[in-house]
Amino acid sequence: MAARCPNAIQLKTSRLRLRCAFAGPRTTWSPGGVSSGAPPNPHLHGAVSSAVRFPGVAIYLAEPRMGRSRRAFLTRLALSKGFRVLDAYRCGVLGGRLSGGGAEAIRWQEGRPAPPTGGTPPALLDISWFTESMAAGQPVPVEGRHRLQVAVPREVLPNPVWMPLYACQRPTPLTHHNASLSAALETLAEAAGFAGSEGRLLSFSRAASVLKALPCPVTALSQLQGLPHFGEHSCRVIQELLEHGVCEEVERVQRSERYQSMKLFTRIFGVGVRTADQWYREGLRTLDDVRKQVQRLTQQQKAGLEHYQDLSSPVQRPDAEALRQVVEAAVGWALPGATVTLAGGFRRGKLQGHDVDFLITHPEEGQEVGLLPRVMHYLEQQGLVLYQQHQRSPSGDPARLVLKGHSMDTFEQSFCIFRLPRPPGTAKGGTWSPHPSWKAVRVDLVVAPISQFPFALLGWTGSKHFERELRRFSRKERGLWLNSCGLFDPEQETFFHAAAEEDIFRRLGLAYLPPEQRNA
Ligand code: UTP
Ligand code: MN
Repeated sequence: MAARCPNAIQLKTSRLRLRCAFAGPRTTWSPGGVSSGAPPNPHLHGAVSSAVRFPGVAIYLAEPRMGRSRRAFLTRLALSKGFRVLDAYRCGVLGGRLSGGGAEAIRWQEGRPAPPTGGTPPALLDISWFTESMAAGQPVPVEGRHRLQVAVPREVLPNPVWMPLYACQRPTPLTHHNASLSAALETLAEAAGFAGSEGRLLSFSRAASVLKALPCPVTALSQLQGLPHFGEHSCRVIQELLEHGVCEEVERVQRSERYQSMKLFTRIFGVGVRTADQWYREGLRTLDDVRKQVQRLTQQQKAGLEHYQDLSSPVQRPDAEALRQVVEAAVGWALPGATVTLAGGFRRGKLQGHDVDFLITHPEEGQEVGLLPRVMHYLEQQGLVLYQQHQRSPSGDPARLVLKGHSMDTFEQSFCIFRLPRPPGTAKGGTWSPHPSWKAVRVDLVVAPISQFPFALLGWTGSKHFERELRRFSRKERGLWLNSCGLFDPEQETFFHAAAEEDIFRRLGLAYLPPEQRNA
């Protein structure tokens, strides 16, 4: 009977670190506590032992993954100090199993019946209570720092977690609690993309993105219940990672020659999945293989190969800041009053990226026409441009492109490689560099008229998955077509006017997400 059950002190540990435990409240061990005089219980180690010194306290080691020898060691230690140790929790409240982390502990605690009259409920404690008590040779008073569920109740995933379907409906910070799990799924998404399997790419990307939005780490598979986009395959991957720390399929993909070659080739500026796939099928495997086929390469790909080493090392935020100043100087010279805005990953708060994205506009509509060639001319004069590919605004009515659901920008843009001088003394020691005084950096410059600027900014801030989801949400849930140029209502045949990104979120019925929460 529950009334006869002594206060149980549950100690929970994990493979990585000792985490939590259930223990009686502060008064658990005090004389006259509920359980003094508790009858013998066959499930208690030492319950009938004459060596029991603290009859009001019983310890249950609640970590299911604890190794046998460790459990035996802790049990022996506690018994030798006169504690009682339960080898099964049989108070009719635990159901015999406590698998997983703090979430189960909290659920167990919430689900337990009220303590019997005069009884005090067991509580979840950190292992520190155990070690301190062993050192003291008696149960130490339970303090707040010992209690997991009191200290961090909201860090534990409620079950089920409420998670909106679309990434644009939920904040996704840059750093989150499930980095290794989401990275594994993103590897599979990338491999699916390399295989031309768009459906699988989206499934894995969506599952990875859900993990990024969770408020705390996933420690048990059951926590995925009720989360959107978690199919059987993604669940299996997470299960393996939780149980073994690695997923065999992910390891196999990463080791595969195809994945490695596709990654190598698609890192070349100007090489997409289709080209990389063709090269792979032709038997090309290395950059030298590609260099031997130089006659087939586009100018962009040649430039990409030439600067491969620099371009495949990440651009750091100080580099982005230095480039902003350079571009601002050029834009200020070419058209006073025109503005430069840093977009892409750096606007989302990333500390490094594969390129730097800038948006240029002017507060007076039309003033921006013809601006980009002047900006590029200025930069070239400064010796800062290693490569540029200018893309004109397509002729005709830009509205028609949106109408067709065209995802291409209609903006004038320039895809460049800049020659960024390294500040003196910052040349990378140790790393061989062909030119220690400067670094090749990929830069995208995009010019948008002020009327379309909020759409361009929203579209070029990313992340790619966030944008994909935002457009899908607009189309499926609102019947509106969104791209970097505008938001179109096909029924009314009207374009929505926006003065800022906030207006676009509002029109779509979405809570505004600042750039740093768009890291989906
Ligand atoms: P990026 O590819 O630069 O991604 O595109 P990123 O988030 O900045 O990542 P890193 O740090 O460089 O690796 C930035 C945004 O611009 C959009 C993408 O969809 C993304 O949302 N974009 C990029 C376009 O709209 N058109 C393009 O031609 C390129
Ligand atoms: Mn970028």
